[in-house]
Amino acid sequence: MNFKMDKKNNVSLHQNTNKMATNRTFTMLKPDAIENGHMGKILSMIIDAGFTIKAMKYTRLTEAQAGAFYEVHKERPFYGELVSYMTSGPIVAAILEKDNAVEDFRKLIGATDPAEAAEGTIRKYFAESKGRNAVHGSDSDENAAIEGAFHFSANEVF
Ligand code: RTP
Ligand code: MG
Repeated sequence: MNFKMDKKNNVSLHQNTNKMATNRTFTMLKPDAIENGHMGKILSMIIDAGFTIKAMKYTRLTEAQAGAFYEVHKERPFYGELVSYMTSGPIVAAILEKDNAVEDFRKLIGATDPAEAAEGTIRKYFAESKGRNAVHGSDSDENAAIEGAFHFSANEVF
């Protein structure tokens, strides 16, 4: 796990300089997915959709790590709930590779709210709610690189 801490102990992903190739995205299987026993089925869907696993770990986020990861949502009313949910149990973090990875993976996971997610998507099948929605997918090549480097050091990526 790589992140920088300033003098006030605030962590920030955006100071990270490691970069990944743009045919990669970053995902987390969130605590509800693991708790509900969906890890194997979700990984199967990801592999069947043509993604190659370049790095993967089973871990649990600290409050500082979850807070930094979702720092962009700091001012939103759901931020506290999001951080406590994301630290409530183990997750699977992974770097995935495929042509057009970021966009294709967002299509595979579906809309944030499972009520709005398309048929056949991971969130349609497995998300409990808009907050507890089974899986994360990076929203841009730049964020995929930042998020991948946040969770993995160079020798953990294949
Ligand atoms: P993610 O970053 O996890 O892939 O999700 P996303 O892009 O589809 O959605 P985003 O807007 O980035 O929100 C991040 C996560 O915050 C939780 N959330 N809860 N209760 C709510 O209204 C609400 N809105 C967002 C979800 O866990 C969402 O995935
Ligand atoms: Mg997002």
